[in-house]
Amino acid sequence: MANPRLTIAIDGYSACGKSTLARALAKRLGYSYIDTGAMYRAVTLYLQREGVDIGDQEAISDAMDGLRIAFRPSDNHVLLNGEDVEREIRGLAVSKMVSPVAALSAVRRAMVDQQRKMGAAGGVILDGRDIGTVVFPDADLKLFVVADLDTRVDRRLRELVAAGREVRREDVAANLEERDYIDSHRADSPLRQAEDAILLDNTHLDLNQLVERGVELVEDLRKDPE
Ligand code: DC
Repeated sequence: MANPRLTIAIDGYSACGKSTLARALAKRLGYSYIDTGAMYRAVTLYLQREGVDIGDQEAISDAMDGLRIAFRPSDNHVLLNGEDVEREIRGLAVSKMVSPVAALSAVRRAMVDQQRKMGAAGGVILDGRDIGTVVFPDADLKLFVVADLDTRVDRRLRELVAAGREVRREDVAANLEERDYIDSHRADSPLRQAEDAILLDNTHLDLNQLVERGVELVEDLRKDPE
């Protein structure tokens, strides 16, 4: 089949360049992009606003029935019950709570279910922590992106400053380290590299090089689907 509509899974630690890669690759291929981290961030914002106790399983399950998450097609901003919350979900208040929220099984079940529906038609790139291991274990291409901590902190700091936020380097570093720990040690769907994922070390690559590497891998796969 010429140019089949592939499903591409990109996983990795916080701020390693996954979403930059996913967005650029989706644009090049004409695929849709699903930022699954944004979905967990939107759930976190909702629980914070509603004052839900994250230790209360029943309250969490009820809350999951009250929320709708979608992506606006024009700019891919995340919508929480119809409201554009893209800016709010990127702040430190949400970043500090998102990993404990994402560790809750009721939250994961609802998000994974929705992600599978959103990606069912193929021609899609999803990035997150469990895409290649849980959400789409049969994805056509799985990438696992890493970068050293200093590089990740620098990149995240630049993004936050460019967005006009006042943040301290040590707070950003502490948040990334804490999220990495929780995301990779939780009981439900911990972050890990799928056995058939290709490792991409983004420490010394710029965006163009990273995207070119991704495009090469997609082209190799189209030439030789096995
Ligand atoms: O990619 P991000 O940093 O925006 O993700 C925010 C948090 O959401 C991250 O710390 C862990 C969680 N997450 C997850 O558990 N599973 C995913 N597929 C994506 C994100």
